[in-house]
Amino acid sequence: MMNVLELLKTRRSIRKYKSTPVEPEKLDKCLEAAQWAPSASNKQPWEFLIVTDEKKRKRLAEIHPYGKFVAESPVVFIPLTNPEVHPKYHHADTALATLQFMIAAHSLQLGTCWAGVINSDIEPNIKDLLKIPNHLKVLALVAVGYANETRTSKRKPLESLVHKESYGLK
Ligand SMILES: Cc1cc2nc3c(=O)[nH]c(=O)nc-3n(C[C@H](O)[C@H](O)[C@H](O)COP(=O)(O)O)c2cc1C
Repeated sequence: MMNVLELLKTRRSIRKYKSTPVEPEKLDKCLEAAQWAPSASNKQPWEFLIVTDEKKRKRLAEIHPYGKFVAESPVVFIPLTNPEVHPKYHHADTALATLQFMIAAHSLQLGTCWAGVINSDIEPNIKDLLKIPNHLKVLALVAVGYANETRTSKRKPLESLVHKESYGLK
């Protein structure tokens, strides 16, 4: 088992998947990880929708211009946010829950990839397809499954991001 820092650094966005189904017990663990994310005033302004049906996944892939991989991933995790529960922080809170889901998935050897939906004109189509009620918003489509590729990624150097005591001081 990797330690947390290793887990955080080795998670990669996976865009090619094997057809191997995801074990329901593993999915439950990922959902529990999401459930235990911190949230402003502990309001938990989220709900989670799981889609495995192939027809629906293919339709989601047609709808999302940069999320074609959800046609292939056996599971799509769809975090929903409720602005009525926390108008100011619902996006931030649900993003944290989503990342917790993704890190838990990585710890269980599952790959994921976030396909963003916030502020996008495809949201009504997704809501129609999955009968998502009006008061909820779709944060993302997150592909989940066993990776059929290995990926690398890059980050900006820490020196360019970190300031000490006041802005601009290294
Ligand atoms: C808010 C958000 C939206 C994203 N949307 C997409 C997307 O629509 N399609 C996609 O292929 N990847 C998407 N990604 C994945 C990023 O491209 C990926 O996280 C980034 O390139 C860093 O790679 P890594 O996750 O492997 O470290 C998104 C990630 C975030 C956090």
